[in-house]
Amino acid sequence: MKKLSARRRHPLAALVVLLFALAAIGGLYSALAPAPKAQADDSSSQSLEITEGRKLFSVGCASCHGAHGQGSSDGPSLVGVGSAAVDFQVGTGRMPAQQPGPQIQKKKTQYTQKDIDQLAAFIASLGPGPVTPTPDQYDPAGGDVAKGGELFRTNCSQCHNFVGKGGALTDGKYAPTLKGVDPKHIYEAMQTGPQNMPSFPDTTMPSKNKADIIAYLQAVDTAKSKNPGGFTLGSLGPVPEGLFAYIFGLGALIAVAAWIAARTTKAKKS
Ligand code: HEC
Ligand code: HEC
Repeated sequence: MKKLSARRRHPLAALVVLLFALAAIGGLYSALAPAPKAQADDSSSQSLEITEGRKLFSVGCASCHGAHGQGSSDGPSLVGVGSAAVDFQVGTGRMPAQQPGPQIQKKKTQYTQKDIDQLAAFIASLGPGPVTPTPDQYDPAGGDVAKGGELFRTNCSQCHNFVGKGGALTDGKYAPTLKGVDPKHIYEAMQTGPQNMPSFPDTTMPSKNKADIIAYLQAVDTAKSKNPGGFTLGSLGPVPEGLFAYIFGLGALIAVAAWIAARTTKAKKS
């Protein structure tokens, strides 16, 4: 008994115990850690995307947004704007911005979707922000048109008109028409709130409601293209449309009456 405790106190005993413990932990770790191979593949393709995105960024965007996206006097910082903002801004051709003006214009995009994804990956690597939505998130097929119409009228119609026709804002700015806008870009506009538009993040407007709004806008679009005839008159509703019919219809009747009266007086004279 005495011998055993003496051996325990051996100066190297603590070291031996420590080594055993380390070896056990190492073994456990390598047994339980996820397979490193698959992960390495994934993260290296992701880092390749970021590297490519950084190159595209330094050529096309850094002059305004700074070499590291930190911003400059010509463009805001892009740290934390997220991949969704890049996908929207570059996908709709707003970025790279060209002429200065009250509002940056939409134009034909110069980048392929692959370039845009790389740019987005680079910006997303600068800081967390809204993530590009997946197709099932913005698919209008799952949306509730009636609910979407309700949400649209309460949240969007003050700027974009009841049927998304767009409208003027102050200082030469305007809310564009939403006809024919890609569902993905509608979703991203709500996520990121470009320029003078407020943002509707998932915390205040859940993904499901965004899909409802997209479904509503698509329904209005197809209703407009299937219009049974005549002018839509801005789809302003029954009162202005009735007024239009009243003024022009009555005007036409008066014109015809005047014409007949003029003819009959001429006929009498001759
Ligand atoms: C000529 C200068 C200029 C260039 C070049 C430019 N931008 Fe911009 N960018 C701006 C300005 C100015 C704004 C701010 C617009 C606003 O909100 O009023 C902006 C806004 C943005 C936003 C929105 C930020 C937010 O808060 O949502 C993104 C994303 C963006 N730019 C990405 C890019 C990318 C990517 C490129 C390169 C393909 C690029 N920009 C090129 C000037 C520029
Ligand atoms: C305060 C006014 C305002 C409100 C409210 C508003 N928007 Fe906007 N919206 C704008 C402006 C201004 C722009 C143009 C921004 C730009 O060009 O960068 C815009 C742009 C958009 C675009 C991009 C269109 C395109 O052609 O690329 C979409 C989509 C959009 N809005 C949808 C919505 C939806 C959906 C709502 C409601 C959930 C909404 N907006 C609420 C002002 C508004």
